[in-house]
Amino acid sequence: MTRPTPGELLTLSGRYWETCALHAAAALDLFAALGPVPRPAADLARELSLDPRALGMLLDALAAMGLAAKGDGGYRADDEARALLAGDSPRSVRPMIMHHHHIMEAWQLLPEAVRTGRATSRHGFEDPVRREAFLMGMFVNAMAIAPGLARELPLSGRARLLDLGGGPGTYAIHFCLENPGLSATVFDQPATRPFALATAGRFGVGDRVSFAPGDFLSDPLPGGFDAAWLSQILHGDGPADCRSIVAKAAGALNPGGVLFIHEFILDDAGDTPLFATLFALNMLVQTRNGQSYTEGELRAMMEGAGLADIRRLPFRGPNDSGILAGVKP
Ligand SMILES: C[S@@+](CC[C@H](N)C(=O)[O-])C[C@H]1O[C@@H](n2cnc3c(N)ncnc32)[C@H](O)[C@@H]1O
Repeated sequence: MTRPTPGELLTLSGRYWETCALHAAAALDLFAALGPVPRPAADLARELSLDPRALGMLLDALAAMGLAAKGDGGYRADDEARALLAGDSPRSVRPMIMHHHHIMEAWQLLPEAVRTGRATSRHGFEDPVRREAFLMGMFVNAMAIAPGLARELPLSGRARLLDLGGGPGTYAIHFCLENPGLSATVFDQPATRPFALATAGRFGVGDRVSFAPGDFLSDPLPGGFDAAWLSQILHGDGPADCRSIVAKAAGALNPGGVLFIHEFILDDAGDTPLFATLFALNMLVQTRNGQSYTEGELRAMMEGAGLADIRRLPFRGPNDSGILAGVKP
């Protein structure tokens, strides 16, 4: 335990003001209108149909946060801030910021969720705007991992990969790019199809990454795979459903096939790493039974599915994500 000071506690408590300023900049796509040449707030406000006084306040805060600069009669952003924050940039992290923005409502209901044990937020991903931010937010997150991981994940000699709950297919795509003999099936809910196919096409592997629509809780999975990749899906469901998902994925493998689980894995005591503990709350406020799992719990699911040679890979991702691997005998 630390001995917090009042100042530290209040700084932590109010940190969301900066978060909200960043979210507002993303929601208004301000960085698409900012560049190296200073622009007066009044010009920007006219172009974006915003209130000039309020926009000036937001831009001043963004400047104070170091994300924009003020001077020479206006506001500007450097190339890197624009590349990361403008909606039209290929490297933009804006979809994930928008996803964070959308789920703030659910987080505000955390006391209620702890009182009742249930998520009480009314919003899911049925709304197309929220769905796109969620799925392309997953793309943003996965792009920080997949290109490098593809070079180290032991997939050479494997011909068919199942990317279960693969979302926009970021991992399947990069595993195929790195392993020329590999083709992949992204299995996900039907509404995910256009995002997965468009992303595979954008990376030039549309002929090797296919999409299978379905619900991994209630539908049968296709079979005959040499590898199964379950990235960030188990935390969305409760333990009994997770046991069934892992058993189904193992059932989709050929003998000798390998199953990987990528999650924010809790240490067995359950109170580290920090991000995995907070992610459990993220699932508490958004899902019926979701949670973070400990390494021991995930290993038990793999053992229950009949997998052998279960091991934790040395990989440690951003936010301390980890990977377990097991082989179907
Ligand atoms: C957190 S995202 C992870 C996406 C991707 N695996 C990654 O790591 O970037 C969870 C994915 O699982 C999918 N999913 C959730 N429940 C599902 C279900 N019951 N059947 C099929 N897909 C599901 C969602 O649509 C979403 O694409």
